[in-house]
Amino acid sequence: MLGKPTINNFVALKGQRKIVCLTAYSAPMANALDPHCDMLLVGDSVGMVVYGMETTQNVDLNMMIRHGQAVMRRRKSALVVIDLPSGSYENSPKQASVTANEIMTKTGADAVKLEGGADFAPHVKCLVESGIPVLGHIGLLPQRTMAGMAFRIKGHTANEASQLHNDSNVLAEAGVFGIVMEGIVEPVAASIAKSSKVLTIGIGASAACDGQILVTDDMLGLYDAFTPKFVRKFTNLQDEISGAAECYCAAVIDGSFPAKDHLFLPKKI
Ligand code: KIV
Repeated sequence: MLGKPTINNFVALKGQRKIVCLTAYSAPMANALDPHCDMLLVGDSVGMVVYGMETTQNVDLNMMIRHGQAVMRRRKSALVVIDLPSGSYENSPKQASVTANEIMTKTGADAVKLEGGADFAPHVKCLVESGIPVLGHIGLLPQRTMAGMAFRIKGHTANEASQLHNDSNVLAEAGVFGIVMEGIVEPVAASIAKSSKVLTIGIGASAACDGQILVTDDMLGLYDAFTPKFVRKFTNLQDEISGAAECYCAAVIDGSFPAKDHLFLPKKI
């Protein structure tokens, strides 16, 4: 991103060019992605892709803080947003405020994201009024999807489409600086993106969104459990890692590793 990673600079990208976002959970990943991304999301998808959990529902606040701190140690120019984990904000605006404050204070991140539509407008308002920038998230909400349930795409019925429009308008009114739209049928997502006053970031939504986000482990071919339809694998790191491990295995067994260069030889006196 041009300039400092501030909400104003990020929001100013709307209408200038497409906005590039990926998830990051670790320092080396943040280091590799930062030069290419406008936003790094410390998503609660960390629970599924790093910890092998079935859903994001058991991700806790400490996990989000530790991964947020790791990402913040390497970010240079990308905005960093951290997910409020399931169970940490839904009860009341006050609960959301306590959680968001702890995340912001302990990580130094730029904003938080929470999942949910119009019902969460009071939570968003409370955070924004206390100076915490909020990114919304509507459509498919992984935190509300139980283990064993399929992720269901939203917006197939007229009712759902109008609810999604309403969610987006109400969240914008409440003060979000942008909205992630996940798993929404394309024409509905496109029509929300075109009419939205705040920037829209799509994942399985529409190319008409102001920007796109993917789970990094998905697009790198690192996540082994399943691949959603909306993912394009830009490489296959599982294969690369397996290939490297195979070479390491062969080198250890045939004795070619470690070679002289990798060893500490006595100094000549
Ligand atoms: O947790 C996450 O990674 C997310 C993205 C899918 C947007 O919320």
